[in-house]
Amino acid sequence: MPSTTAPGTSPRRVLHDCDPGHDDAIAIMLAIADPSIDLIAVTTVAGNVTLEHTTNNALRVLDLLGRGDIPVAAGRAAPRVRDLSTAAVMHGESGLAGPLPVTPSSGPSELTALEMIEQVLTEATEPITLVATGPLTNMADVVEQLPHLHHMIRELVIMGGAVELGNWTPAAEFNIWVDPDAADIVFRAGCVPGGERTGIPLTMIGLEVTHRAWLTDEHADALRGTGDVGQFVAELLDHFVGFHQDRFGWEGAPIHDAVTIAHLIDPTLVTTLPMNVQVETESALCIGRTVADRWSVTGQPANAAVGIDIDRNRFVTMLLDRLSP
Ligand code: RIB
Ligand code: CA
Repeated sequence: MPSTTAPGTSPRRVLHDCDPGHDDAIAIMLAIADPSIDLIAVTTVAGNVTLEHTTNNALRVLDLLGRGDIPVAAGRAAPRVRDLSTAAVMHGESGLAGPLPVTPSSGPSELTALEMIEQVLTEATEPITLVATGPLTNMADVVEQLPHLHHMIRELVIMGGAVELGNWTPAAEFNIWVDPDAADIVFRAGCVPGGERTGIPLTMIGLEVTHRAWLTDEHADALRGTGDVGQFVAELLDHFVGFHQDRFGWEGAPIHDAVTIAHLIDPTLVTTLPMNVQVETESALCIGRTVADRWSVTGQPANAAVGIDIDRNRFVTMLLDRLSP
């Protein structure tokens, strides 16, 4: 499938903050595979697994792709207020259950994630797109500690939240649930992309979209044996699909995080609506819920573009095309 970069336009410069994690790893691979994206740095956060593992996993994926030139900087090892609760039950203790463990050939940057983001935004000649596919702990630091650089953020695209049901509790999606206090800070700083810039343009790719972005065993088999990258993804899917089949009885595994990158590659894939979104930070029952005003009943101004649908077939075609040689 040809790139969607219009002739004469330069690739979109992206910094990806993540907690690899099977779907984060696939998102990184998609970003590197598509010529319309220039992945300039990766920062890591604790979420799916501990910071040590998420950082090693990001380094490992970049190694596999021959992109050890892309720096990885480690961020926060725990949420702002709550204790860290991981998703090791889903991703394995290492965070990349499935493929045989591999030690990365290099280590992370000496810079922290926040220092790396500050350096990238300071040195940029044009605004940078931030993508966050883990808990928003590092992004809340960007909001609070880099206000002088917010104008150099083209937009922030997050995987997180849901208009309706959660996936980690009945009310909350995992990334928001892990660090609701950070998410609250980020959403309060958000504004609708393309509208009046009253904050950081924010797009929320939530479960209504990502739960339609699933891959199956058949997709794993299609990738198996197509080279090192395809084999690696097939082994990731063997575990990830198996978990979702056993735990939820689903046919496949949602590749949540890859949708953020696919949305940047082709903005026609995901349908979004401007909404006011607020984060529950106190309720014992509903902490981490993204309270999305889908029908504008509060009169509160929209602070994000919220995904409500995806062209599933075109997403799967794009993903498999970019992951195959
Ligand atoms: O709820 C889905 C999110 O939680 C994704 O980012 C996935 O990596 C898991 O961590
Ligand atoms: Ca993630």
